[in-house]
Amino acid sequence: MCGIVGYIGKKQAAPILLEGLKKLEYRGYDSAGLAVRADDGEVTVVKTKGRLSRLAERTGSGALLHGTCGIGHTRWATHGEPSEENAHPHKCMDGSVTVVHNGILENYRELREKLVRKGYTFHSQTDTEVIANLLHYYYKKYHSDPIDAVSRFMMRARGSYALAVLFEDYGDEIYVARKDSPMIIGAGRGEMFIASDVPAILKYTKRVYYIENYEMARITREGAEFYNIDREPVEKRAVRVTLDENAAEMGGYEHFMIKEIHEQPQAVELTLNSYLSGDYVDFSECKLCDKFLETDEIVIVACGSAYHVGVVLQYVVEKLARIPVRVELASEFRYRDPILGKNALVVAISQSGETADTLAAVREAKARGIRTLAIVNVRGSSIAREADKTVYTFAGPEIAVATTKAYSAQLAVGYLLALEWARIAGRIDDVQCAAYIEELRNLPQKIASVIENKDAIQKFAAENSTVTDVFMIGRGIDYAACLEGALKLKEVSYVHTEAYAAGELKHGTISLIENGTVVFGVLTQSEVLEKTASNLEEVRTRGASIVTVSFEGEKTAEAKYAFHVPRTDELFAASLSVIPLQLLSYYVSLQRGLDVDKPRNLAKSVTVE
Ligand code: G6P
Repeated sequence: MCGIVGYIGKKQAAPILLEGLKKLEYRGYDSAGLAVRADDGEVTVVKTKGRLSRLAERTGSGALLHGTCGIGHTRWATHGEPSEENAHPHKCMDGSVTVVHNGILENYRELREKLVRKGYTFHSQTDTEVIANLLHYYYKKYHSDPIDAVSRFMMRARGSYALAVLFEDYGDEIYVARKDSPMIIGAGRGEMFIASDVPAILKYTKRVYYIENYEMARITREGAEFYNIDREPVEKRAVRVTLDENAAEMGGYEHFMIKEIHEQPQAVELTLNSYLSGDYVDFSECKLCDKFLETDEIVIVACGSAYHVGVVLQYVVEKLARIPVRVELASEFRYRDPILGKNALVVAISQSGETADTLAAVREAKARGIRTLAIVNVRGSSIAREADKTVYTFAGPEIAVATTKAYSAQLAVGYLLALEWARIAGRIDDVQCAAYIEELRNLPQKIASVIENKDAIQKFAAENSTVTDVFMIGRGIDYAACLEGALKLKEVSYVHTEAYAAGELKHGTISLIENGTVVFGVLTQSEVLEKTASNLEEVRTRGASIVTVSFEGEKTAEAKYAFHVPRTDELFAASLSVIPLQLLSYYVSLQRGLDVDKPRNLAKSVTVE
């Protein structure tokens, strides 16, 4: 989390930094700050609590800060509450080192105590101020240069960091370092950029250097030099990124979330088309051969909505391929000493490719000699680079904190993998495979038709926006869709929402049902449809207000409201049933006057554990 930008060139830095931060605000938005170096060498820091717009106001959209070199930060608080004092950039005690930081310095207490013993004082509760002072300490103690000081810091630091640093004595340079938190460097003509994510600098350059863990860079107007932790030079080539700058713009929509909901048909279509060749699944572009995919144990690791994709896929893959699938929260997997067979395949799912726990789960699997396959949206991200093989989704940049189109694109890749596993295991023949593929090719159009009917959901949201408790129930794939629907509603509308496997409701949770409690039933799975319908009836007789989501023409349960989605193969139903729940979340959030793209306390990319 947290967004970092940096600029060194011939133009005024502050407006460019603000513009870059705006593109990164989804990474954290409880405070923001800029440090700009004037031509006389003085570094001015301006920080504000709250959204970036306040920082823009305070600095006259950057016009009040003069200088052609600077760094900026938008924060998601980890150490120290959101406040002006704790906002970045932080200076060391004598002001000669200025730092912005993304990540968590785990041994910051011990380092802070050491520095206090050496006479350093602190003004904030952050681990970042410890970094600024520690860099100063090494710099002075060893009469060294910035690269030496940063490498000493890296040897002492535990945890994760992406750092951008200004040293007073090295006026026209920015230093960066990275471990487990993303950071890229953009190369322009006579100007250089740094950012924690590509969209921040796309407007200026598409030539990007990726820096790896335990690497540093010295950046000047003319270019960048890279070093490893031993201060040895590292050769790097800039990569040309293919992202479209406008893809990260609102494009006439009121919010990114609704824009991204509308982009789902395209995201799914592009993703499917990238890996379909006629009637066949074709992963050759990702160098995925049968030998790599062949397995008798699939373990899916992911966080948040990506985990929910995993839950859908567990049902789909087991049904189609009859291979045992386990879905694990990456944060649990990494610490529980999991038992994995030699022939297991660990599949990591992540939109950002930077989620700290998912990345750690990939590393854990690799350390045990287990093959890893990643499903990732962001090209060149850490998980994509570290997994043995990566299948990219084609959702384009996703900006709203609550994911929608990346979730749908991940499902699409998952279905294709399920077909491949089924084919390799001899569970489906070419004719069956072709039939599934035909149905998958129809999905984008069907998703579009659900979105077209959004008015009914908007009306429902308007009538029910004051609801305080919602339950979403279903069985099998419907339950998996409920997990995602419930997360969406709670994260953007702050309505307490829980997903339950319909059969489990009776074991305690049903006691929460009162007159007027809203219970959604998702009913697309014919084998268990009547069972879920009975569970809905049980809560209806206890006063619940029932809302159903089912296939068109299906008679399901007695409901106050019924939403329908086009019929598809039941294995792919989550791709459709989730859409009304996404739209519902969006409209309820709007009705409640909330910031739907940036819900409180959240960040899009969770790069700390
Ligand atoms: C955050 C986002 C979620 C996302 C999760 C995992 O919590 O708000 O929308 O599902 O991280 O992110 P990833 O980038 O790994 O898919």
